[in-house]
Amino acid sequence: MTRIFSGVKPTGHLTLGNYLGALRRWAEEDQYRAESLFCVVDLHALTVEHDPARVRRLSRQAASLMLAAGLDPQVCTVFVQSHVDEHARLSYLLECVASDGEMRRMIQYKEKSARAQASGQGVRLSLLTYPVLMAADILAYGADEVPVGEDQTQHVELTRDLAERFNQRYGGAFVIPRATQPAVAARVMDLQDPASKMGKSHEATAGIVYLLDEPDVVAKKVMRAVTDSEPGVTYDREARPGLANLLEILASCTGKEPAALAAAYDAGGLGFGALKRETADAVVELLRPLRARHAELSADPGYMDGVLREGAARARAIARPTVDAAYRAMGLLPPA
Ligand code: TYM
Repeated sequence: MTRIFSGVKPTGHLTLGNYLGALRRWAEEDQYRAESLFCVVDLHALTVEHDPARVRRLSRQAASLMLAAGLDPQVCTVFVQSHVDEHARLSYLLECVASDGEMRRMIQYKEKSARAQASGQGVRLSLLTYPVLMAADILAYGADEVPVGEDQTQHVELTRDLAERFNQRYGGAFVIPRATQPAVAARVMDLQDPASKMGKSHEATAGIVYLLDEPDVVAKKVMRAVTDSEPGVTYDREARPGLANLLEILASCTGKEPAALAAAYDAGGLGFGALKRETADAVVELLRPLRARHAELSADPGYMDGVLREGAARARAIARPTVDAAYRAMGLLPPA
């Protein structure tokens, strides 16, 4: 049976980008068609300046939003990365097959290390090795597929390279995974700055829709989205990124095609105002049940503890033999 692994990093409140690019598909499709594991990757949250109490809080919140989005712990496995030691164990082995040069070529490393330097914070070594830990997350479970947004595809490519190299050099048996992306909204852009990704750890928040924003805040952010002053409505990500972003968000919410939506707005002579209003309404309605379910789950922390405890036990049982085999393959002496 196909196995799926994916994760979300508790470095900020989850956004509409996380939902449309990843969580929604995990909940609506992936968990039902494959054996799936979904992880709050808290070790990854320590790669940048962090507040321990906030990471703890955001980890619980991320887990709760994953369930609120529809992940069913009876159907898939939901757990926290640091509860399963195998991630860190395997990460070290993979550091011994990865090179410094290939880490420095990662786009996210370049962006995040530049940001850390600009703000006067040092660059943590773990930020450089971040993709190796991510590879360990995926390879420890023998995942065939990794459903992610567009920004993570380079990391999944690297994971493939590391797995192939390990298998070749050490006769390992890692499954070679592949990234899968949603047909639309694989890269939701910031509503105020459509040249950048809607990112949960960005400081300017006016262009970011958080899953737990109040409905009127969501509507206001969408209504104030930056577009352009060209006449008519066309779908062109390069030339009209703000408009294309709105069309993709609306398409993702309604299951329509962005180009078809553009054509309909254009033919109807409807302006950006109408498009923004319809998009705002669609996003508010999409998030409404998620907010309600999250509120219910927050009122019952014991339930969430149980889900995460069981999830970690299931995850451990899958990862341990794979990682033990990798230890042996690399030449480490088994304990007597
Ligand atoms: P993270 O926490 O940044 O994002 C979680 C998921 O949401 C997707 N995503 C987006 N999709 C569309 N538009 C956006 N604006 C947007 N922003 C985020 C991401 O692509 C991702 O699928 N490194 C990963 C976490 C990770 C992981 C893994 C993922 C660690 N180990 C193993 C898969 C497998 C990350 O930082 O995701």
